[in-house]
Formats: sequence, structure tokens, C-alpha cells
Amino acid sequence: MSTTTASPVSSAVGSTLDLAISGGTPVSKTPIPFMSTGLSSADVDAATAVLKSGMLRAAKKCEELETRFAQISGAKHMMTCANGTCALQLAYEPLFQRGDEVLVPAWSYIATVSMIVARGCTPVFVDAIPETFQIDVNDAAKKVTAKTRGIAATHLYGCPVDIDAVQALAQKHGLKVVYDAAQSHLATYKGKGIGAFGDAVTYSFYATKNLGTGEGGSISCNDDGLAKSIKLLRSHGETDKYLHEHIGYNYRMNDITGAIGCSRLDRLPDQTKTRQKNASKFDAILSEIDGLIPPTTTPGAEAVFHLYVVKMDLSKFRCTRDEFCKALMAEGVPTAVHYPRSLPKQPALATWNKNDCPVADALSSQVFALPMHHDLTEEHFRVVREALNKVAAAYRA
Ligand SMILES: Cc1ncc(COP(=O)(O)O)c(C=O)c1O
Repeated sequence: MSTTTASPVSSAVGSTLDLAISGGTPVSKTPIPFMSTGLSSADVDAATAVLKSGMLRAAKKCEELETRFAQISGAKHMMTCANGTCALQLAYEPLFQRGDEVLVPAWSYIATVSMIVARGCTPVFVDAIPETFQIDVNDAAKKVTAKTRGIAATHLYGCPVDIDAVQALAQKHGLKVVYDAAQSHLATYKGKGIGAFGDAVTYSFYATKNLGTGEGGSISCNDDGLAKSIKLLRSHGETDKYLHEHIGYNYRMNDITGAIGCSRLDRLPDQTKTRQKNASKFDAILSEIDGLIPPTTTPGAEAVFHLYVVKMDLSKFRCTRDEFCKALMAEGVPTAVHYPRSLPKQPALATWNKNDCPVADALSSQVFALPMHHDLTEEHFRVVREALNKVAAAYRA
């Protein structure tokens, strides 16, 4: 429910002299918190119990996290691991072979693509949809070749991609699908947990994620054989004590992390609902301001708003995105840019850049994330609303 009053879209013109960066009075002297990652006493107790038990390796707590997170995500199998990057590596290795072409998002965090490169595959960049920021499956379809074997699609910022479209393309061309859900714990699509779709889904439990344990990750899948392969790869291909039938890694989680994950999972459904309500409040605030465009959710998807990402129509302002964000910070509203470069424009991925992802390239100078977490208060929304209106009016074209 929105607490902000709907009013006509404002194109008000103010003065940059009033801005806090020019010496004016800030909307809030103390910056509002950008995220909320603190441990609760229940989290600390859960971790302490493991420390006291002396069972520090992956054991019952990792297993509990796997069982519960699989169930709540709509997946049959869940394998915890050391982090979200390992999760991608463990999912990609059994599904893709060296030399395969894999369709990847141009707009995502680098790990989605760098682990494709680490697998010896060729990443083929697919552009983003300008409104949802998610992978554009129509563009993906144009980039399928005889060598294409898979799609790695990120459910970015907490919003599922158009899963029906991805699965239809995959079915048409016999492609394997990995969804990178590092930012999308508990998101759903057409009423089902996102774990129900694709060949594998990967998660990160990095400290700032919706389910944050410090470092950590997991992979879900619905195929018994794939789950077995992933478990073997996770632990040196060991089929019996010191019997290694495959080359693998040590990408295991530990029970301290598992215990924090279980404890945080207790609160995650409620915290997710709060994020969704907060997103509606931001939507209402942005509906008052011309040129600041709220994020659009993929039809049929329920987003979990790991990030709330605003797109600027730069033609409506006399400033860049970075200048706008600097002014917001001075007013007491911190922001973050996910991401300042599209992936094809990353030096490490330049080999595969074909300059054919204009939407992703443009997003890198248009978007910014507002503070989004379960601890935002009405006062925080007041500050965001006033600061956005003030800065937008000051920089109005
Ligand atoms: C979309 C995406 N994929 C993968 C990762 C990698 O996860 P981790 O940092 O746990 O290795 C992240 C982390 O930021 C991410 O946002």
C-alpha cells in the first residue's frame, strides 16, 4: 500500500543553488541506509551453536538449508556451495562443452559470463529489454547458430526473465538453460518458484544478497543425474573415501554459513513481502516525477526487488546520471549503479564484443538503484521523495 499521495507528474523547475552539493540545506543530514545486512540475534545464536558443536564442515546445517531452500524455490534438488560464482561453474560444467556457443546477457554481473569463458565456451552477447532490463529473447533468437548449445539468463535485480520465451527458444534449438538467480531468491514465475524452470538455477548468498550469509551459494535442478554430477564436481569427484572418479573442486559450503542461511531463511518470506511493498511506494513516488522511470516487471513474474533500479530519461534533465546521483547523495539519499558498463564493454570480455547490444550500452549511463531493503521507514520514504523531487527540479531541462 502506498503512503505517498498521487499527484500530477511534476516537471517543476528549481535552482541548482538550493541543492546540498551547492551549499543548500540537505533534505536529510544523515544519509539513509542503502542496505540492511545486519545479523539478528537468532542468526548469531545459530552460528554460535555450530561453533560450539565443533562441526565446522558441511554437515546438517548445509543439508537443512538445501532441503528448505529447494522446497521454497520449487526445485527438486539444491546443492549448497562456496559462492555464486562456483555455483555457475558447477552448473555450466556438466551442461556445456568446450567450444560451445552460449547465449549470455549483455546486462548482468560479470560472473554469469566470465564462468562461460572459464568453461572454454564462446559467449554470444544478447541485448536487454529497455523496460525490464532483462535478456531480450527476440535478440537471442537472432543470434542462434549451428554451434549454439545453451542460454545463461540472469533473473536480474530480483525480476525473473521471460521464462516461457527462453524455454520455447531452448526447446526449438535443443539448448540447455541455466538461470542465474544470484539476485532473485524466492522470485516466482506464473505462480511457480523459479527453481521449477530450466536445467539449473544458481544463487549467491553474498552478504548483500536477499539471502546473505557472508559468502555462499547454491545450485538447484530437477534432474537426478545432473544433481549427482554437480555434487561430484563440488567435492573432487569423490565417489568413496579417497576414490576420485572425476576431476572436481572443493566448492563446499560450511555449517556456520549453513546455519546463518537457515536462520535468515526463516525471515526471508516476510522480508521479501516488505521489499515488494517498498517497491510499490517507490513506484508511487516516481509517478510524480517526469523523466524518472520505474522498473517494469516481466509479465507473469513476481519480482523480489533485490535492487530497485530507476531509469533516467536524460533528455528531461540538464545533467548526467552521475551528477544526479551525486546531488542525491548530498541530500541524504545514497544510490548505486548496477552497472557502469555493459558486459561487452568490459575489457576482460572485449574479445566477444560485437557492438550489437545498444540497449545494454545505453543503460550503463541511464540507471541507478535507490536504497532497497526490509528496514526502510516512512521517514526514509519522505527523504527519498523530497530529495528526488528537489534534484529533478534543479536539473530540469
Ligand atoms: C547476477 C550475479 N551472478 C553471479 C554473482 C556471483 O556471486 P558471488 O559473489 O557469490 O560469487 C553475483 C554476485 O554479485 C551476481 O549479482
